[in-house]
This record gives sequence, structure tokens and C-alpha cells, in this order.
Amino acid sequence: MRYSTSTTSTPLLSDDVTQPDIKQLNFTQTNAAMSFEDAVTDAIDDVTSAPDEQPLSAAVVFGCQAEEKVKKKVKMQGGNSPENVTAGGDANQFTSTVVMMSAGNGRPTSGLKPSPSVGTSLESLAKSEADQNDNVSPWIMGEAWERFYKSFVYYKDKPVGTLAALDPSADALNYNQVFVRDFIPSGLACLMKPSKEGLDMVKNFLLKTLHLQGNWEKMIDNFTLGEGVMPASFKVQYKPGLQKDVLEPDFGGTAIGRVAPVDSGFWWIILLKSYTKCTGNHSLAESPAAQRGMKLILNLCLADGFDTFPTLLCADGCCMIDRRMGMYGYPIEIQALFFFALRCARQLLIPEHGNKELIERIDKRITALSYHIQKYYWLDFIQLNNIYRYKTEEYSHTAVNKFNVIPESIPDWVFDFMPLRGGYFIGNLSPSRMDFRWFLVGNCIAILSSLATPAQATAIMDLIEERWSELIGDMPLKISYPALEGHQWKIVTGCDPKNTRWSYHNGGSWPVLLWLLTAACIKTGRPQIAKKAIELAEQRLARDGWPEYYDGKTGHFVGKQARKYQTWSISGYLVAKLMIENPSNLRFISLEEDKKIAQPRLNRSASWSS
Ligand code: GLC
Repeated sequence: MRYSTSTTSTPLLSDDVTQPDIKQLNFTQTNAAMSFEDAVTDAIDDVTSAPDEQPLSAAVVFGCQAEEKVKKKVKMQGGNSPENVTAGGDANQFTSTVVMMSAGNGRPTSGLKPSPSVGTSLESLAKSEADQNDNVSPWIMGEAWERFYKSFVYYKDKPVGTLAALDPSADALNYNQVFVRDFIPSGLACLMKPSKEGLDMVKNFLLKTLHLQGNWEKMIDNFTLGEGVMPASFKVQYKPGLQKDVLEPDFGGTAIGRVAPVDSGFWWIILLKSYTKCTGNHSLAESPAAQRGMKLILNLCLADGFDTFPTLLCADGCCMIDRRMGMYGYPIEIQALFFFALRCARQLLIPEHGNKELIERIDKRITALSYHIQKYYWLDFIQLNNIYRYKTEEYSHTAVNKFNVIPESIPDWVFDFMPLRGGYFIGNLSPSRMDFRWFLVGNCIAILSSLATPAQATAIMDLIEERWSELIGDMPLKISYPALEGHQWKIVTGCDPKNTRWSYHNGGSWPVLLWLLTAACIKTGRPQIAKKAIELAEQRLARDGWPEYYDGKTGHFVGKQARKYQTWSISGYLVAKLMIENPSNLRFISLEEDKKIAQPRLNRSASWSS
């Protein structure tokens, strides 16, 4: 295994030359003394003169390194051929510039898009950061790392994961377990700030969960679960009879509501790809056990059935929102993770090992899935107006209103919420049912996996800016919007007292989501949005004891039943900081657009012209 423990911007990748997806950001620091304005103009010039139409990752990045002006040249490889991520370059290489700006002195230029949330000028952002955050941020980072290390779980003296929460004041329930989805930001923090122990932990986590997938009888009452199912969580349990520790998984059999962890397998494949990319070590991904594990997960999703859509049919509570919340059907979070995992698996599966047929199925599903989501889940002003004017009861292939959505089912709030500039993927789609709610995870994953077209990704970021107070408010970030209230809350959640309006999954605000927002912001060249959100979180997160979630319309209150010292609130913050400080870290968790995937023809709305 080859990796660097240095914290410089030198790429950690060593022999990842076969990966065609992610642009390699190759920093060379030149310490040039130049005005901020010149630097930004340079950056924009470099970006706009790029010789091909590759979407720009990390186009212009404002960091704040006190009393320091640093210009960093970023080599981004584009073109149609797979990038050679380690070699010096090829004909398609182009150079753009990343500017690290002096916290107090920087002046914005007109080249930047104004942001309603940040104001039309970045000056105030830079100033407020300089004033408030420069002293506070390193302290918070220090505390976060310390608490993060305390959450490590050991099995046979080796780190295998992180506890969900370490809150001495609350009943542990299952928060003393290692959750697969909760471990993703932990794993990414270890990859982005590599140490031997951290990288070992990611590897051990991948191996142990793989082992649990294949070697555990997954029974709930008399029913045996699918072979490919990955656990939602596991714990280290001492067995007095055996006089030793064992790993005990939960596949939903002990979870509240017996919910199915559909997202676990997808996150596992995505993390395996990130690990491979970071270490350059392909031996884990190429091992027979990992290849088998991936195939088992995919078999669960690619099996023939009665489906008329390429999306994956799920029960409620099958992902981060693991309680009844009206997510049954085809929730965007699962569809985006499914797409992401398919694309990662496509790159990790070895074709020679009898995988040819599987790879063909993956390719077909990727194409069908992206078409379906990009075309039918997309909502912006124009599309909303189209739906509002839909005719119903259309028959045959010529139907415009394919799913027979009844315009009267559009909730009133959408008309107020939808800005002229911006758009998003709706929460769910099935016959006569569009769930118009906004879900952050699905939308950000769609950006990171390039399920969203570049224009759609831009529009999602526009929406976040336009609806800053609703989606970010006082504490980033709303997991879903808006909240279900009154009669609807009763019917949809089953009167869930944990998911009352503007609480927990029902319109609550989750700091862990900062890492996803930051990654999406960097990918779309809008890091200032993430910086502003991080700054907001820094004002309270550590002081409030790293709560799991916040409540209230603007996320002003620490959540009713929120755990303190929730590990993914800590690691999510750390990953956000590690990416904003070194945007090239994005490459561990982002896939570039695959030009071979056909895109649907869509009516473009005003929001797409930017
Ligand atoms: C809650 C969350 C779930 C998370 C778990 C552990 O159940 O809804 O997403 O994985 O806590 O933190």
C-alpha cells in the first residue's frame, strides 16, 4: 500500500491509472505575490479558456489562510480519453487556477456569481470569517479530531469502525454500534487526512462488513434475507461462553420498525472505490471476496422482476431516514446511491472474471436510470408549470403526463418554494404520485455521481442559494423540506412522536450533511456556499456538544431527542473542512460525467441558462 502522510497538496494517488472518472488536481504552489483581483481574474480566464467542455470541478476556490496569498496552479485533465492520473499530462490537459485568498484583504471580482445567501460581494464573507472564524476554527478542528479518535471501535486490537455516538448522558440504544452509513464520513476523514491507523480502519471496516454479509445467517423470524444484504450496523460483543469478542451485525432484525438498510450495500461499494482511489491499492477491490460481495449486492438490485421503471422499489425507512416518512416507493436518496454504486462497481469489477454479462446489465441500467431520473424527477419553474397544466387520463405512448399525475395533487407550498432560478430532483415518483419534497442527500449524491447533468447540478446549487433560509437557516442542513404537519403527519408518519414537524427526519437540520453540501459545492465550482454554511455551523456545533440534529423551522434548537457527540456530526464537519481547505480531496468521492450515457431531451427553463 502506498500513501503519503503529508498534509501538502501532493496527490496521494500512486497507481490509480486505470480509473477513467475523476480529474486529478495536481497542485504546485508558486507563492506568487499578486492582488486578489488579479488572481481571481486569472482563475476565471483559465477556466473559461479550457479547451474542452468538461464540467469544471473546483473551479475557483476561496480558502482563508491568514496573512498569506498563495496562487496554486491546478492541472486538470480533460478530453474524452481516460485520464492518466499520475503521469505528467497529455494533449487534453488544461490548467486552471485555484486561488487561496488572504482572509482579511481579499476583494471579490465581478467574475463571480452573486449569491443571495452570501450577498453580492464576497468581501463581507471574507471579513466575517477573518473576524470570527480564523481564531475559532482551528480550535474546533482540534476538538473534532480528538472526539473523532475517541469514537474508534477496536476488534482484536484493530480499529474496525466508529461508534454512532458517545453521549454519556443518554441511553445508548443502538448508538453504541458502528453504522455503515454513519461510517462513510468517518472513512472519508481517514482517507483525506491519512494515517496508518485511519487507513487500516477503513480497510478493516470494509473487510469486516464484507465478512458479515457473507457469513451470517440473516433471519428475521422465519424469513431469510437476501444473500447480498449488508448490515445496517454491527457491534463488538463479548461472549462469555466463548470467552472472546465477536462481531454482531444487525440487518434490520433488531432495528426499530425492522427497517431494511438498502443504502448500506451501496455505501459499501462507494467507500471501496474511495479507498482504492486514495491508496492506489487495488488488491482489496480485486480480491475474490470483494468481487463476490459486490456481485451479491448488485444481484439484489438487478434481478428481473415486475418493474416498469429502472428505479429501485423500496419500503419506507430504507436509508438515512430510517423511520416511516412516506419514502416508500422510489425515493431519490436510494436511486441516487444506486446509480453511484453502479458506476463505482462498473469500474471495480474485473471483466475477465466472468463478469461480462453483469457489466452489460450494469451499463444498460445506468443508461436507463439516468434517463428516468434526469427526465422525470426533475422539477424547476418550467416543469412545475407543465405539471400544473397537465391533462390526465392519457393513454398510449404519446402520453405527455406519463404517470397520470393529477395537478390538484401539487401541494401549495411548492408554488412559493420554486424560484425562477434553480431546480431539484423531487423525493419520489410512481403512478399518480409525485412527492415534491426536497431531500438533500439524494440531490447531493446526484451531483457527486454525475447523475445530475452539469446544468441540473448548477440549478440545484442555485436553488440552495435562492432558498437559503429554508434549507440552511441557522444550522445546516435541512434533511427534508418542508415538514409534514397535522393530519398529514398523522397519516404519513403514523403519528411518530420523534418525527413531529420540523424535528429529526421531518424537516430537521443535520450537521453531518455539511460534507455532502461541501463536496457538491466544490464540484459545481461554488465553494463560497459551503464556506458560508461551515461558518454557520462553527458558531454552535462544538459549543452545543456536536448534536445529531437540530429542530425548528430554521434549525435553531438542539434536537428534541438528539444525541450529543454524534460521530458523523463530527466527521461530517471534518470532511467538509478537509475538502474546503484542499479541494482536490473531492476526487475521492466524486465521479465525472460519463459522456457515453445518453441524456434525455429536456425543456430548458430560465434556471438552466446560467
Ligand atoms: C438514526 C438515523 C440513522 C443513523 C442512526 C445512527 O437512526 O436516522 O440515519 O444511521 O441514527 O446514527
